[in-house]
Amino acid sequence: MLEKFYSHPLKNLNTFGFDVSARCLIRAYSVPEILQLRSDRDFACGKRLVLGGGSNLLFTSDFDGCILQPLLQNISPEDDTDARVRLRVGAGVAWDELVSRCVERGWHGLENLSLIPGTVGACPVQNIGAYGAEAKDVIEGVEYVDLDSFTVKYLSNEQCRFGYRSSIFKKELKDKAVITQVLFGLSKQPRYNTSYGSLSEMVKQLGGESLHNIRRAVVATRRGKLPDPAEMGNAGSFFKNPFVEKSAAEELRKRHPDMPSFASGSGVKIPAGWLIEQCGLKGARRGSVGVHPKQALVLVSYGGGTGGEVLALAREVCQAVRDKFGVALELEVNVV
Ligand code: EPU
Repeated sequence: MLEKFYSHPLKNLNTFGFDVSARCLIRAYSVPEILQLRSDRDFACGKRLVLGGGSNLLFTSDFDGCILQPLLQNISPEDDTDARVRLRVGAGVAWDELVSRCVERGWHGLENLSLIPGTVGACPVQNIGAYGAEAKDVIEGVEYVDLDSFTVKYLSNEQCRFGYRSSIFKKELKDKAVITQVLFGLSKQPRYNTSYGSLSEMVKQLGGESLHNIRRAVVATRRGKLPDPAEMGNAGSFFKNPFVEKSAAEELRKRHPDMPSFASGSGVKIPAGWLIEQCGLKGARRGSVGVHPKQALVLVSYGGGTGGEVLALAREVCQAVRDKFGVALELEVNVV
Protein backbone atom coordinates (compact mmCIF):
# COMPACT_ATOMS: atom_id res chain seq x y z
CA MET A 1 0.00 0.00 0.00
CA LEU A 2 1.15 3.54 -0.80
CA GLU A 3 2.71 5.25 2.20
CA LYS A 4 2.85 8.99 2.51
CA PHE A 5 4.69 11.16 5.02
CA TYR A 6 4.97 14.92 5.46
CA SER A 7 8.11 16.79 6.65
CA HIS A 8 10.03 13.57 6.36
CA PRO A 9 13.68 13.50 7.49
CA LEU A 10 16.14 12.45 4.76
CA LYS A 11 19.18 11.81 6.96
CA ASN A 12 18.96 8.07 6.41
CA LEU A 13 17.98 8.44 2.76
CA ASN A 14 21.14 10.13 1.48
CA THR A 15 24.56 8.52 1.88
CA PHE A 16 26.19 11.87 2.70
CA GLY A 17 23.98 11.67 5.79
CA PHE A 18 22.91 15.32 5.59
CA ASP A 19 20.14 16.26 7.95
CA VAL A 20 17.62 17.71 5.50
CA SER A 21 13.93 16.94 5.02
CA ALA A 22 11.33 16.58 2.27
CA ARG A 23 7.97 18.33 2.27
CA CYS A 24 6.44 14.98 1.30
CA LEU A 25 7.76 11.44 0.88
CA ILE A 26 5.81 8.67 -0.85
CA ARG A 27 6.72 4.98 -0.84
CA ALA A 28 5.22 2.90 -3.67
CA TYR A 29 5.44 -0.88 -3.84
CA SER A 30 3.86 -1.63 -7.25
CA VAL A 31 3.16 -0.16 -10.67
CA PRO A 32 -0.58 0.37 -9.97
CA GLU A 33 0.39 2.36 -6.88
CA ILE A 34 2.66 4.59 -8.96
CA LEU A 35 -0.09 5.04 -11.58
CA GLN A 36 -2.42 6.07 -8.77
CA LEU A 37 -0.20 9.10 -8.13
CA ARG A 38 -1.68 10.75 -11.20
CA SER A 39 -4.46 12.04 -8.98
CA ASP A 40 -2.31 12.70 -5.93
CA ARG A 41 -2.15 16.44 -5.38
CA ASP A 42 1.24 16.40 -3.63
CA PHE A 43 2.82 14.36 -6.38
CA ALA A 44 1.06 15.72 -9.45
CA CYS A 45 1.71 19.39 -8.68
CA GLY A 46 5.07 20.89 -7.87
CA LYS A 47 8.60 19.61 -7.59
CA ARG A 48 9.28 15.87 -7.49
CA LEU A 49 12.26 13.63 -7.18
CA VAL A 50 12.59 9.87 -7.59
CA LEU A 51 14.89 8.43 -4.95
CA GLY A 52 16.79 5.16 -5.19
CA GLY A 53 19.36 4.50 -2.47
CA GLY A 54 20.29 8.20 -2.21
CA SER A 55 23.87 7.21 -2.95
CA ASN A 56 24.48 9.55 -5.87
CA LEU A 57 22.80 12.65 -4.49
CA LEU A 58 23.85 15.81 -2.72
CA PHE A 59 21.10 17.71 -0.93
CA THR A 60 22.12 21.35 -0.43
CA SER A 61 18.87 22.27 1.36
CA ASP A 62 15.50 20.84 2.41
CA PHE A 63 13.51 19.50 -0.54
CA ASP A 64 10.38 21.59 -1.05
CA GLY A 65 8.49 19.00 -3.06
CA CYS A 66 7.54 15.36 -3.21
CA ILE A 67 10.03 12.49 -3.13
CA LEU A 68 8.96 9.13 -4.50
CA GLN A 69 10.67 5.90 -3.47
CA PRO A 70 9.76 3.04 -5.82
CA LEU A 71 10.18 -0.09 -3.69
CA LEU A 72 9.26 -2.94 -6.07
CA GLN A 73 11.07 -5.98 -4.75
CA ASN A 74 10.81 -8.80 -7.33
CA ILE A 75 13.74 -10.78 -8.76
CA SER A 76 12.00 -12.93 -11.38
CA PRO A 77 13.82 -15.24 -13.80
CA GLU A 78 12.24 -15.30 -17.27
CA ASP A 79 13.45 -17.15 -20.31
CA ASP A 80 15.66 -19.49 -18.32
CA THR A 81 17.72 -21.77 -20.61
CA ASP A 82 20.94 -23.78 -20.18
CA ALA A 83 22.96 -20.93 -21.65
CA ARG A 84 21.38 -17.81 -20.19
CA VAL A 85 18.72 -16.30 -18.02
CA ARG A 86 16.71 -13.13 -18.34
CA LEU A 87 15.96 -11.53 -14.99
CA ARG A 88 13.19 -9.02 -14.37
CA VAL A 89 14.13 -7.07 -11.28
CA GLY A 90 12.12 -4.51 -9.31
CA ALA A 91 13.51 -0.99 -8.94
CA GLY A 92 13.60 -1.22 -5.14
CA VAL A 93 15.93 -4.22 -4.90
CA ALA A 94 19.27 -3.29 -3.33
CA TRP A 95 21.90 -3.48 -6.07
CA ASP A 96 24.42 -5.55 -4.16
CA GLU A 97 21.73 -7.96 -2.99
CA LEU A 98 21.06 -8.70 -6.66
CA VAL A 99 24.77 -9.11 -7.44
CA SER A 100 25.21 -11.45 -4.50
CA ARG A 101 22.21 -13.61 -5.55
CA CYS A 102 23.47 -13.85 -9.14
CA VAL A 103 26.95 -14.89 -8.01
CA GLU A 104 25.37 -17.57 -5.75
CA ARG A 105 23.29 -18.91 -8.65
CA GLY A 106 26.24 -18.97 -11.09
CA TRP A 107 24.83 -16.24 -13.34
CA HIS A 108 27.56 -14.17 -15.01
CA GLY A 109 27.57 -10.46 -15.74
CA LEU A 110 27.16 -8.46 -12.51
CA GLU A 111 30.12 -9.66 -10.42
CA ASN A 112 32.49 -6.79 -11.37
CA LEU A 113 29.83 -4.38 -10.11
CA SER A 114 29.88 -5.84 -6.58
CA LEU A 115 29.30 -3.59 -3.56
CA ILE A 116 28.12 -0.54 -5.50
CA PRO A 117 25.62 1.19 -3.22
CA GLY A 118 22.11 2.04 -4.40
CA THR A 119 19.11 0.32 -5.92
CA VAL A 120 18.41 -1.55 -9.15
CA GLY A 121 16.13 1.26 -10.35
CA ALA A 122 19.01 3.72 -10.15
CA CYS A 123 21.51 1.55 -12.04
CA PRO A 124 20.40 2.46 -15.58
CA VAL A 125 20.10 6.18 -14.81
CA GLN A 126 23.82 6.76 -14.57
CA ASN A 127 24.85 3.46 -16.15
CA ILE A 128 26.83 2.42 -13.07
CA GLY A 129 30.26 1.05 -13.81
CA ALA A 130 33.35 -0.31 -12.12
CA TYR A 131 36.33 -2.60 -12.72
CA GLY A 132 35.87 -2.86 -16.47
CA ALA A 133 32.10 -3.44 -16.51
CA GLU A 134 29.07 -1.22 -16.93
CA ALA A 135 25.38 -1.87 -16.28
CA LYS A 136 24.69 -1.32 -19.99
CA ASP A 137 26.63 -4.51 -20.82
CA VAL A 138 23.87 -6.61 -19.21
CA ILE A 139 20.71 -4.47 -19.33
CA GLU A 140 18.31 -5.70 -22.02
CA GLY A 141 15.70 -3.05 -21.35
CA VAL A 142 14.01 -0.83 -18.81
CA GLU A 143 10.33 -0.41 -17.91
CA TYR A 144 9.19 2.88 -16.46
CA VAL A 145 6.13 4.94 -15.71
CA ASP A 146 6.03 7.98 -17.95
CA LEU A 147 5.06 10.92 -15.77
CA ASP A 148 3.55 12.97 -18.62
CA SER A 149 1.03 10.31 -19.64
CA PHE A 150 1.05 8.09 -16.52
CA THR A 151 1.46 4.99 -18.70
CA VAL A 152 3.98 2.17 -18.52
CA LYS A 153 6.65 2.31 -21.23
CA TYR A 154 9.61 0.16 -22.25
CA LEU A 155 12.99 1.13 -23.66
CA SER A 156 15.41 -1.38 -25.15
CA ASN A 157 19.11 -1.16 -24.31
CA GLU A 158 19.75 0.86 -27.47
CA GLN A 159 16.89 3.25 -26.77
CA CYS A 160 18.29 3.95 -23.29
CA ARG A 161 21.25 5.69 -25.05
CA PHE A 162 23.76 4.61 -22.47
CA GLY A 163 27.08 6.42 -22.26
CA TYR A 164 29.78 6.85 -19.63
CA ARG A 165 27.78 7.49 -16.41
CA SER A 166 24.87 8.63 -18.56
CA SER A 167 21.59 7.58 -20.18
CA ILE A 168 18.36 9.02 -21.53
CA PHE A 169 17.09 9.00 -17.90
CA LYS A 170 19.69 11.66 -17.02
CA LYS A 171 18.85 13.72 -20.08
CA GLU A 172 15.55 13.85 -22.05
CA LEU A 173 13.68 11.79 -19.44
CA LYS A 174 15.15 13.54 -16.40
CA ASP A 175 12.32 13.99 -13.84
CA LYS A 176 9.87 12.47 -16.33
CA ALA A 177 10.23 8.76 -15.65
CA VAL A 178 9.92 6.42 -12.69
CA ILE A 179 11.90 3.28 -13.46
CA THR A 180 9.98 0.27 -12.19
CA GLN A 181 11.68 -2.83 -13.65
CA VAL A 182 15.08 -3.52 -15.17
CA LEU A 183 15.59 -6.54 -17.44
CA PHE A 184 19.02 -8.14 -17.33
CA GLY A 185 20.44 -10.74 -19.73
CA LEU A 186 22.91 -12.92 -17.84
CA SER A 187 25.04 -15.80 -19.05
CA LYS A 188 25.27 -19.20 -17.41
CA GLN A 189 28.51 -19.88 -19.29
CA PRO A 190 31.72 -18.55 -17.72
CA ARG A 191 32.73 -15.23 -19.24
CA TYR A 192 35.09 -13.47 -16.91
CA ASN A 193 36.39 -9.95 -17.20
CA THR A 194 39.48 -9.36 -15.09
CA SER A 195 41.41 -6.96 -17.31
CA TYR A 196 40.99 -3.89 -15.05
CA GLY A 197 44.06 -2.81 -13.06
CA SER A 198 45.28 -5.46 -10.64
CA LEU A 199 42.02 -7.44 -10.64
CA SER A 200 43.48 -10.34 -12.57
CA GLU A 201 46.42 -10.60 -10.12
CA MET A 202 44.11 -10.49 -7.09
CA VAL A 203 41.83 -13.15 -8.57
CA LYS A 204 44.83 -15.39 -9.24
CA GLN A 205 45.91 -15.05 -5.62
CA LEU A 206 42.41 -16.02 -4.48
CA GLY A 207 42.66 -19.29 -6.42
CA GLY A 208 41.75 -18.39 -10.02
CA GLU A 209 38.85 -17.11 -12.05
CA SER A 210 35.38 -17.76 -10.64
CA LEU A 211 32.37 -15.58 -9.92
CA HIS A 212 33.05 -15.79 -6.18
CA ASN A 213 36.72 -14.84 -6.53
CA ILE A 214 35.96 -11.87 -8.77
CA ARG A 215 33.36 -10.69 -6.27
CA ARG A 216 35.81 -11.13 -3.38
CA ALA A 217 38.55 -9.22 -5.24
CA VAL A 218 36.23 -6.34 -6.19
CA VAL A 219 34.81 -6.13 -2.66
CA ALA A 220 38.32 -6.07 -1.15
CA THR A 221 39.49 -3.38 -3.61
CA ARG A 222 36.47 -1.18 -2.97
CA ARG A 223 36.74 -1.60 0.82
CA GLY A 224 40.43 -0.67 0.62
CA LYS A 225 39.89 2.57 -1.31
CA LEU A 226 36.33 3.79 -1.01
CA PRO A 227 34.82 5.04 2.24
CA ASP A 228 31.84 3.11 3.63
CA PRO A 229 28.87 5.52 3.75
CA ALA A 230 27.86 3.92 7.06
CA GLU A 231 31.10 5.26 8.55
CA MET A 232 31.76 8.43 6.54
CA GLY A 233 29.23 10.36 4.45
CA ASN A 234 29.95 10.25 0.71
CA ALA A 235 28.36 9.56 -2.67
CA GLY A 236 31.15 7.61 -4.38
CA SER A 237 32.89 9.38 -7.24
CA PHE A 238 31.91 13.02 -7.00
CA PHE A 239 33.36 13.80 -10.45
CA LYS A 240 33.43 11.99 -13.78
CA ASN A 241 36.76 11.10 -15.31
CA PRO A 242 37.20 13.86 -17.90
CA PHE A 243 37.42 13.06 -21.58
CA VAL A 244 39.98 15.02 -23.61
CA GLU A 245 41.02 14.99 -27.28
CA LYS A 246 44.12 12.95 -28.10
CA SER A 247 46.10 16.06 -29.11
CA ALA A 248 45.25 17.79 -25.81
CA ALA A 249 46.29 14.67 -23.89
CA GLU A 250 49.63 14.62 -25.73
CA GLU A 251 50.25 18.25 -24.82
CA LEU A 252 49.45 17.47 -21.18
CA ARG A 253 51.74 14.46 -21.24
CA LYS A 254 54.67 16.62 -22.33
CA ARG A 255 54.28 18.57 -19.10
CA HIS A 256 53.23 15.57 -16.96
CA PRO A 257 54.98 12.46 -18.34
CA ASP A 258 53.58 10.22 -15.58
CA MET A 259 49.92 11.13 -16.27
CA PRO A 260 47.75 7.98 -16.43
CA SER A 261 45.18 7.86 -19.24
CA PHE A 262 42.86 5.39 -20.95
CA ALA A 263 41.82 5.36 -24.62
CA SER A 264 38.10 6.09 -24.86
CA GLY A 265 36.36 6.39 -28.22
CA SER A 266 38.05 9.08 -30.26
CA GLY A 267 39.88 10.55 -27.27
CA VAL A 268 41.38 9.82 -23.90
CA LYS A 269 40.02 9.64 -20.36
CA ILE A 270 42.18 10.94 -17.54
CA PRO A 271 41.45 9.76 -13.97
CA ALA A 272 39.96 12.72 -12.09
CA GLY A 273 41.48 11.26 -8.91
CA TRP A 274 44.98 11.71 -10.35
CA LEU A 275 44.30 15.30 -11.48
CA ILE A 276 42.96 16.23 -8.03
CA GLU A 277 45.85 14.52 -6.27
CA GLN A 278 48.34 16.45 -8.42
CA CYS A 279 46.71 19.68 -7.24
CA GLY A 280 47.66 18.71 -3.69
CA LEU A 281 44.05 18.28 -2.64
CA LYS A 282 43.94 14.57 -1.80
CA GLY A 283 43.02 14.40 1.89
CA ALA A 284 42.35 18.17 2.03
CA ARG A 285 39.86 19.14 4.72
CA ARG A 286 37.58 22.18 4.85
CA GLY A 287 35.72 22.20 8.16
CA SER A 288 33.47 19.13 8.29
CA VAL A 289 34.01 18.05 4.69
CA GLY A 290 36.99 16.98 2.66
CA VAL A 291 38.61 15.10 -0.21
CA HIS A 292 38.97 11.43 0.70
CA PRO A 293 42.58 10.61 1.68
CA LYS A 294 42.58 7.29 -0.25
CA GLN A 295 40.65 8.16 -3.44
CA ALA A 296 40.71 11.80 -4.46
CA LEU A 297 37.60 11.77 -6.62
CA VAL A 298 35.43 11.04 -3.59
CA LEU A 299 34.32 13.96 -1.42
CA VAL A 300 33.39 13.08 2.14
CA SER A 301 31.53 14.49 5.09
CA TYR A 302 33.10 13.93 8.51
CA GLY A 303 29.78 14.69 10.23
CA GLY A 304 27.92 17.87 11.05
CA GLY A 305 28.56 19.56 7.69
CA THR A 306 26.18 20.63 4.95
CA GLY A 307 25.67 19.96 1.26
CA GLY A 308 26.58 23.60 0.60
CA GLU A 309 30.02 23.01 2.12
CA VAL A 310 30.55 19.97 -0.13
CA LEU A 311 29.51 22.01 -3.14
CA ALA A 312 31.93 24.81 -2.22
CA LEU A 313 34.73 22.23 -1.93
CA ALA A 314 33.72 20.72 -5.31
CA ARG A 315 34.00 24.18 -6.87
CA GLU A 316 37.44 24.67 -5.30
CA VAL A 317 38.55 21.29 -6.71
CA CYS A 318 37.24 22.11 -10.22
CA GLN A 319 38.97 25.50 -10.14
CA ALA A 320 42.29 23.99 -9.04
CA VAL A 321 42.19 21.34 -11.80
CA ARG A 322 41.24 23.96 -14.39
CA ASP A 323 44.07 26.27 -13.28
CA LYS A 324 46.73 23.55 -13.27
CA PHE A 325 45.69 21.40 -16.25
CA GLY A 326 43.15 23.42 -18.25
CA VAL A 327 40.77 20.46 -17.87
CA ALA A 328 37.12 20.95 -16.85
CA LEU A 329 35.74 18.43 -14.35
CA GLU A 330 32.08 17.48 -14.54
CA LEU A 331 30.10 16.44 -11.45
CA GLU A 332 28.93 12.84 -11.36
CA VAL A 333 26.68 13.37 -8.35
CA ASN A 334 23.23 14.96 -8.73
CA VAL A 335 23.00 18.18 -6.79
CA VAL A 336 19.47 18.80 -5.47
N1 EPU B 1 44.30 7.88 -9.13
C1 EPU B 1 45.21 8.68 -8.48
N2 EPU B 1 44.86 9.21 -7.26
C2 EPU B 1 43.66 8.97 -6.68
C3 EPU B 1 42.73 8.15 -7.36
C4 EPU B 1 43.07 7.61 -8.59
O1 EPU B 1 46.31 8.94 -8.96
O2 EPU B 1 43.42 9.48 -5.59
C5 EPU B 1 44.66 7.30 -10.46
C6 EPU B 1 45.57 6.12 -10.41
O3 EPU B 1 46.47 6.26 -11.48
C7 EPU B 1 44.68 4.93 -10.69
C8 EPU B 1 43.66 5.56 -11.61
O4 EPU B 1 43.50 6.88 -11.12
O5 EPU B 1 45.38 3.93 -11.33
C9 EPU B 1 42.31 4.85 -11.59
O6 EPU B 1 41.84 4.77 -10.25
P1 EPU B 1 40.65 3.79 -9.83
O7 EPU B 1 40.92 2.43 -10.33
O8 EPU B 1 40.41 3.96 -8.37
O9 EPU B 1 39.44 4.31 -10.69
P2 EPU B 1 38.86 5.74 -11.01
O10 EPU B 1 38.99 5.99 -12.46
O11 EPU B 1 39.43 6.75 -10.08
C10 EPU B 1 36.51 4.78 -11.60
C11 EPU B 1 35.06 5.00 -11.22
C12 EPU B 1 34.75 4.35 -9.88
C13 EPU B 1 35.07 2.87 -9.97
C14 EPU B 1 36.54 2.71 -10.34
C15 EPU B 1 36.93 1.28 -10.55
C16 EPU B 1 34.44 7.09 -12.27
C17 EPU B 1 34.06 8.51 -12.07
N3 EPU B 1 34.76 6.40 -11.18
O12 EPU B 1 37.30 5.51 -10.67
O13 EPU B 1 33.36 4.50 -9.65
O14 EPU B 1 34.81 2.21 -8.75
O15 EPU B 1 36.79 3.40 -11.61
O16 EPU B 1 36.41 0.82 -11.74
O17 EPU B 1 34.45 6.64 -13.40
C18 EPU B 1 31.60 5.69 -8.58
O18 EPU B 1 31.13 5.89 -9.70
O19 EPU B 1 31.04 6.14 -7.56
C19 EPU B 1 32.86 4.98 -8.45
C20 EPU B 1 33.46 4.80 -7.28
